[in-house]
Amino acid sequence: MQIGPIALENRLFVAPMAGVTDRPFRMLCRALGAGYAVSEMVTSRKELWNTLKTSRRADHAGEPGPIAVQIAGTDAAMMAEAAQYNIDRGAQIIDINMGCPAKKVCNKWAGSALMRDEPLALEIARAVVDAAAPHGVPVTLKMRTGWSADHRNAVKLARDFESAGVQMLTVHGRTREQGYKGSAEYDTIAAVKAAVRVPVVANGDVTSPEKAREVLAATGADAVMIGRAAQGRPWIFREIAHFLATGTHLAPPLVAEVRRLLLDHLQEHYGLYGEYSGVRTARKHIGWYVRELPGGEEFRGRMNGIEDCAQQLRAVSDYFEQLAAGMERIPVHREAVEEADEEGAEDEGAASAAH
Ligand SMILES: Cc1cc2nc3c(=O)[nH]c(=O)nc-3n(C[C@H](O)[C@H](O)[C@H](O)COP(=O)(O)O)c2cc1C
Repeated sequence: MQIGPIALENRLFVAPMAGVTDRPFRMLCRALGAGYAVSEMVTSRKELWNTLKTSRRADHAGEPGPIAVQIAGTDAAMMAEAAQYNIDRGAQIIDINMGCPAKKVCNKWAGSALMRDEPLALEIARAVVDAAAPHGVPVTLKMRTGWSADHRNAVKLARDFESAGVQMLTVHGRTREQGYKGSAEYDTIAAVKAAVRVPVVANGDVTSPEKAREVLAATGADAVMIGRAAQGRPWIFREIAHFLATGTHLAPPLVAEVRRLLLDHLQEHYGLYGEYSGVRTARKHIGWYVRELPGGEEFRGRMNGIEDCAQQLRAVSDYFEQLAAGMERIPVHREAVEEADEEGAEDEGAASAAH
């Protein structure tokens, strides 16, 4: 799989998630089997580039390439400038956010709202491509299926973006109006794939190896992108990679391995955010790791009372050590069990290997 001239390791991508897919989390997902990770969005508003939040988002120290930076905004010239600024700071791919309900900028909603204003969406794509092309940096774009159920314009826009020089399109199978409600649909993604020659990435509700296989088959997409299902479960990428390659399930990780992964993740997290913010912003990650584990809810509640790194690390370490005394591996993920049950006898070999 290629993005312009850049070859990727595989076709399993981590979705950009503001407040989640920071450098430590992206690196963890990459180490656990994701072939590609896009950074959290960076605003096109110049006055915010020097804020702590934006400079943390622009921190790619030690990250394996390609470095892909997502930009969001509503003004073509500002977006071109943002592309240039990030390329100067090491971005090897620029991704335009037309996929999530980003903030209001200059009285206009950025992100997926741009899909409602096709001329502006196209003007932005052209301006960003023009800014990136002289550096040999490919531009990609992430969008939804459309604005609303009656305004599903992803196919038209995909053709326009391709003509404008965009080199990969990611489509989240929901409309902007849906937010995160309902289920993702994949017919529109399949139609986008059929309409363009550039690689297309399918996104939305991929939560298990079976679902990844199903979505790849249903859409013909070149890759799948996984967001929420990777929260607290970054090893989902190696599970999917193994399943796609062999048709069998990898055993869930050892409790001892998850303990080590989470402790390392926390150290990296504190390194990026410092103690005060680090301890607080780490709570959501910890909560995701333990949410399906015995006593996880109670442990998550306890985390809120802890305000320093050393104590947080110790509590996490103790929790997983206790867990390891009672179980060797973490339980098979709930949805994976349900889906394996649904597949039933048809795929007995794969389902049994999961346990
Ligand atoms: C907390 C959170 C933050 C997100 N931030 C972004 C973002 O910065 N840029 C973007 O294009 N999409 C963003 N998204 C959307 C995801 O990239 C993805 O399209 C969506 O979650 C659907 O995929 P999933 O079902 O695998 O989670 C965000 C989603 C979540 C849950």
